[in-house]
Amino acid sequence: PRPIIIDCDPGQDDAVALALAMASPDELEILGVTAVAGNVPLRLTERNARIMCELCGRTDVAVYAGADRPMVRDLVTAEEVHGETGLNGIEIYEPVHPLQPKHAVDFIIETLAAAADDGVTLVPTGPLTNIALAIRRAPSILPKIREIVLMGGAMREGGNSTPSAEFNILVDPHAAHIVFRCGRPIVAMGLDVTHQVMTTAVRVAAIEEAGGKAARAIVDLLRYYERHDEAKYGSDGGPLHDPCTIAYLLRPELFSLKHVHVAVETASELTMGHTAVDFWRVTGKPLNAHWAHHVDADGFFALLTERLARL
Ligand code: BDR
Ligand code: CA
Repeated sequence: PRPIIIDCDPGQDDAVALALAMASPDELEILGVTAVAGNVPLRLTERNARIMCELCGRTDVAVYAGADRPMVRDLVTAEEVHGETGLNGIEIYEPVHPLQPKHAVDFIIETLAAAADDGVTLVPTGPLTNIALAIRRAPSILPKIREIVLMGGAMREGGNSTPSAEFNILVDPHAAHIVFRCGRPIVAMGLDVTHQVMTTAVRVAAIEEAGGKAARAIVDLLRYYERHDEAKYGSDGGPLHDPCTIAYLLRPELFSLKHVHVAVETASELTMGHTAVDFWRVTGKPLNAHWAHHVDADGFFALLTERLARL
């Protein structure tokens, strides 16, 4: 199996990404889960990650807490989407599964330092603070990174937090700037593709029917999560952003990508966190990211339903 570190801010869609990865041990070896402040404060994202380990029966997966705020800007959270717990929809409790004493950035650096070149894939599904801090503190880890498969950014869809910016990039644009310029292969799952995987009533019912206790809890999370987009945009279901990263690792053929240059806006307050995706390669700048632009949504949900049923 492919060794990965999942860096997340759960969040219902992060929780589904964790569940999809934890249900796929044949393909993915989760070296650790690192939490970052984002959808809700760090104290809640690390707890929610531990709850997901327990829910998925994967207390062999260690959880580390990282940065409690972005590198430069003040933390912006998203309780209006995820609820005040970050995982509204299921019952929240203090998990037994412990938080590791080590800082997430130390865990990332030490794990990569001990790995072979191209040994570890990083899967960030929240603001990129932990990843950028690790890269800045220990640039010698860069050759160890096989690929960074991240959720963040937007091109033709526009932003979901401001007209220009997607949430993860907006929360820590300086970290995103560092990551997109780090020189390692990047796969970016932005809103262009995540808005194609909607949790329609039919798809959620299929997960509920096929699955056991864990899948049913995930259905409860999804039914809470989708109410935000349904109320705001009148959509059938909500966009399952973060699981696109794990689905890509499991079934890359579900996605269409283009190798492009992506730059992150860090100066203009108006367009802060915008991902300038050079889709038509007009700048001649170096190609630094594989930008996902289409996904086979039915294939994605077939995979998700089948895997969640295993939990
Ligand atoms: C991203 O922002 C968060 O609310 C979600 O968890 C996802 O990572 C989507 O813009
Ligand atoms: Ca997230």
